[in-house]
Amino acid sequence: MTEPEGPTVSRGAEARLRKVDWWGFPALLKERDAKAYRPKALDEKLRRERTRTEVRLLVDARRLGVRTPILYDIDVERHRITMEELPGPTLRHLLEDPVLPFDSLERAVRAFGVALGRLHAGGISHGDLTSSNVIYPEGPERAPAFLDLSMGSRSPGVEELGIDLHLVEEDLKALHPRSDALVRAFHAGYADGNPAGEKTVRARAKAIRGRVRYA
Ligand SMILES: Nc1ncnc2c1ncn2[C@@H]1O[C@H](COP(=O)(O)OP(=O)(O)O)[C@@H](O)[C@H]1O
Ligand SMILES: [Mg+2]
Repeated sequence: MTEPEGPTVSRGAEARLRKVDWWGFPALLKERDAKAYRPKALDEKLRRERTRTEVRLLVDARRLGVRTPILYDIDVERHRITMEELPGPTLRHLLEDPVLPFDSLERAVRAFGVALGRLHAGGISHGDLTSSNVIYPEGPERAPAFLDLSMGSRSPGVEELGIDLHLVEEDLKALHPRSDALVRAFHAGYADGNPAGEKTVRARAKAIRGRVRYA
């Protein structure tokens, strides 16, 4: 593969994303950077592992009917994946959008809850569930897609699931003045997506909140 071209669209703590063309389809190439502070062998191992995990979970989530970007290519040696570029705002954009009607935002958050419930019911945790890792390719009224699954797990315990929920609750509280209604909408959606696990996972999220507060 030749060196990827295209503008950098995002440079996070871990990875750089570049806009590329995949046989005519708009795509993003995600490349995990080397971390100078980690010993080289460990750094290589971690970058490979996260690249592999991300790819597996992207595909496994889709199998559950939970939307994720289509995987186009993977280069484990160079810690790169090429995936479909999804259009649309992230949940973070929606939470910060001053003109979006509140009931649209509520529906968006509810749809997010349903999607996360399905992911959890199917045995996958996300592991880094911030509002920047949720995107709405069909607009705020339709099911969102998950991004950035490299910290997720395919055999999560209640703790991992509880952490996912806890992070969402914290993010909603931090980013919106009417977060109580949004958290309720999120929980209602989650209960729909994960009816069997809802009680246990919410109880764990609550315990985690208590631990964090009094730590
Ligand atoms: N497949 C995609 N389609 C559209 N936007 C994406 C896609 N993947 C990532 N992004 C955008 O790039 C940002 C960073 O990507 P992400 O995979 O979360 O990497 P990081 O590890 O830097 O958080 C996301 O928050 C989102 O805005
Ligand atoms: Mg991210």
